[in-house]
Amino acid sequence: MGSALVKRLDGKRENRIPDMHDIAQDARIFVAGHGGLVGSAILRRLEAEGFSRLLTATRGELDLRDQRAVDHWFEANRPEIVFLVAGTVGGILANSTRPAEFIYDNLMIHATVVHAAYRTGVRRLLYLGSSCIYPRHAPQPIREQDLLTGLLEPTNEPYAIAKIAGIKLCQAYRRQYGCDFISAMPTNLYGPNDNFDLESSHVLPALIRKFHDAKVEGRRSVTVWGTGAPRREFLHVDDLADACLFLARHYDEDEHVNVGTGEDLSIRALAELVRDVVAPGVALELEPTKPDGMPRKLLDVSRLHALGWRHRIGLREGVESTYAWYQTAGSSRLPAATATARS
Ligand SMILES: NC(=O)c1ccc[n+]([C@@H]2O[C@H](COP(=O)([O-])OP(=O)(O)OC[C@H]3O[C@@H](n4cnc5c(N)ncnc54)[C@H](OP(=O)(O)O)[C@@H]3O)[C@@H](O)[C@H]2O)c1
Repeated sequence: MGSALVKRLDGKRENRIPDMHDIAQDARIFVAGHGGLVGSAILRRLEAEGFSRLLTATRGELDLRDQRAVDHWFEANRPEIVFLVAGTVGGILANSTRPAEFIYDNLMIHATVVHAAYRTGVRRLLYLGSSCIYPRHAPQPIREQDLLTGLLEPTNEPYAIAKIAGIKLCQAYRRQYGCDFISAMPTNLYGPNDNFDLESSHVLPALIRKFHDAKVEGRRSVTVWGTGAPRREFLHVDDLADACLFLARHYDEDEHVNVGTGEDLSIRALAELVRDVVAPGVALELEPTKPDGMPRKLLDVSRLHALGWRHRIGLREGVESTYAWYQTAGSSRLPAATATARS
């Protein structure tokens, strides 16, 4: 398999790579975490491709932290393919105020699902990690082999430890039991079904919400945590879903694969872009006394590019479509308005 086999026409990928792992249209495919940002995008994508036996379970039906319940569910439903994209997820504020939940929930979810997948003979499992697994001072752009070469960013260390454990679980079950479990590490994601609650959201949806609220309430400025200097990379979740399907079909190795655009921008530039889309004319005020998090986080995506995959959705286009979604569906899904606005 190689990028030479992938032909690009008018910016669209024409995938000529034969599937290493053809996924039958009637394969039983479980999307763990189907209600979330990533899970809903994967489900949309699978539905669009016509897969006919998609398996889902809400948290009420199946608490993925409960090994007995997960074992029972896997035995009853016998998935063949699993997308493990469930977890407790959030921004700096949520990570720093709820570190126990971030480490416990994620460790348990990864362990129960990987173990049940092994026990019931799942054919392929794709585990989704996060770019926060890498050391705070990793050289930029961050390569897959930079994992565990330095100290983690303290503001989300418990979450990062759980996400690293997920990679190691997949590798250990592959080595000891021959399980076909792979891991993908996406950069910051955004898109429809994102979390716009200011107490727990990531920076991009938080900015959309803040500028939208300022516009609706007639306020002249919006405050954003930090200096605005840190640089971040953003990938539309529909591109991620495309990459997950691509990897499930074409990747079969032990090492995790970075998934991103290979392009970053400062938080200030991001805030200005969101402001221009959502509420032109509203001023941006930075709060430099608040924590910044890692100074830069850009993934080296050369491995993924070499496999033949590239993102398609540009950042402005993605922010515009996400804001359109927020205006129609997103704001009705918010919890009661939160008083303190933070990014
Ligand atoms: N968002 C990002 O920017 C980003 C970036 C990199 C990596 N990721 C990774 O992508 C994955 C999904 O993130 P996301 O942004 O889609 O998160 P999300 O929108 O919060 O969705 C998480 C999903 O997991 C489910 N879930 C959580 N705990 C559960 C439990 N105990 N039992 C059953 N279901 C449970 C949630 O169910 P409920 O709907 O009931 O809560 C929800 O459907 C995570 O592994 C995360 O590390 C996300």
